[in-house]
Amino acid sequence: MLNWNIRSHINASMPKDFDQAFKSYQETLNSSEIGFFHLPQNKELLLSTQAVYEKFKHKKYFIHVGIGGSALGPEMLLKALGSSKGVEFIFLNNIDPDDFHRQLKKVNLKEAVIYIVSKSGTTAETVAAMSILANELNKVGIQENQYKDFFVFCTDPEKGDLRKIGAKWNIQTLSVPANVGGRFSILTPVGFLPMLFAGISPEHVLKGASALQNKLSNKSECEDFFKLATWINELHDQGIRQTVMMPYSSLLKEFSAWFVQLWGESLGKDGKGLTPIPAYGATDQHSQMQLFMEGPEDKTIFLIEVEKFQHDYELKNNIPGESFELLSQFSLGTLMRAEFEGTLAALAENKRHVVHLKIPTLNEESLGQLILFSECLTVLVGQMIKVNPFNQPGVESGKKYAYAWLKSHS
Ligand code: PA5
Repeated sequence: MLNWNIRSHINASMPKDFDQAFKSYQETLNSSEIGFFHLPQNKELLLSTQAVYEKFKHKKYFIHVGIGGSALGPEMLLKALGSSKGVEFIFLNNIDPDDFHRQLKKVNLKEAVIYIVSKSGTTAETVAAMSILANELNKVGIQENQYKDFFVFCTDPEKGDLRKIGAKWNIQTLSVPANVGGRFSILTPVGFLPMLFAGISPEHVLKGASALQNKLSNKSECEDFFKLATWINELHDQGIRQTVMMPYSSLLKEFSAWFVQLWGESLGKDGKGLTPIPAYGATDQHSQMQLFMEGPEDKTIFLIEVEKFQHDYELKNNIPGESFELLSQFSLGTLMRAEFEGTLAALAENKRHVVHLKIPTLNEESLGQLILFSECLTVLVGQMIKVNPFNQPGVESGKKYAYAWLKSHS
């Protein structure tokens, strides 16, 4: 099971009124307007995705089109858990024409399933990518009445352009529940369909999430969780407003990117917020770590330790030289452990504020726990710093101006 420990000279304490804080938190998680917490129990979403998968599972390419919460989760799942079914994945998560060119060159569109993911069904970047893909299909002789054999949509159950076009073109259209926002949507068909094509078990990811859900629903079991959020709030009030996410794992590098969106977009508003900084160890020990260690004392540093890697390599060697000889006694996994322990000790010596997260190994279940942990912590910290973690008015205003610019230039 995922566990966490605070390592800081600023002590963690329970919220002043734990009963009230726990009650408000449960009210939020169980409110009919907020759906992410109960996704592990929603069997319907997985069943509908499995049915779509059955129809398209012969395809050799999976093109995932989306942005923000409609892309970061799937990319993170693929990077963390890998792909074992031989399907080639292409992520179109931006509107860089050169990147489109490079990525589309690799694909035989006739053998591709194109997954268009947009909760709102109107996001400009995603609409643009879909238009290009429709044109590309036309170029290889595929007409509108055949789009249903290539496109799958994932969007709001009722609203938006994608829902309407899906009905018109008879396209398989999966749903993101209306009460689940983009960055909280990874455990819905948004993440399930790519998982199935990659050979990742959504059931096991949900099982992991469900274990954490049980813990956080039980008042006596989640005291440590409230202490953690109270401590982050305390640090926020003292001006310590940057949050580093640093797993010691290359495979969790994209987890940091996913976390950045969740934390930044949910908590940064009303002049408040915590600036997320993505990192990964040991690589960033040779980069940003100098800043984390001796720069301004304005950061909370989440370090994720993977206790046991699933593979390992002995470093035994006959190469002359002191460093080769020392390493010769160990394995690559042990070296990672040494670097992790070294960083923990050095951060403590430098009086930095650290949260040590530990998972037994990286697999579907532990990733499910990390996902729900991050989502729930974001919501609880939002409650404590008094912001609404579920909206993104700043992002919306940027979108509005971009559309206005397009209209004025059309
Ligand atoms: O978290 C969010 O709501 C946003 O980051 C969205 O995921 C992002 O803007 C993409 O929106 P949509 O899924 O509607 O295309």
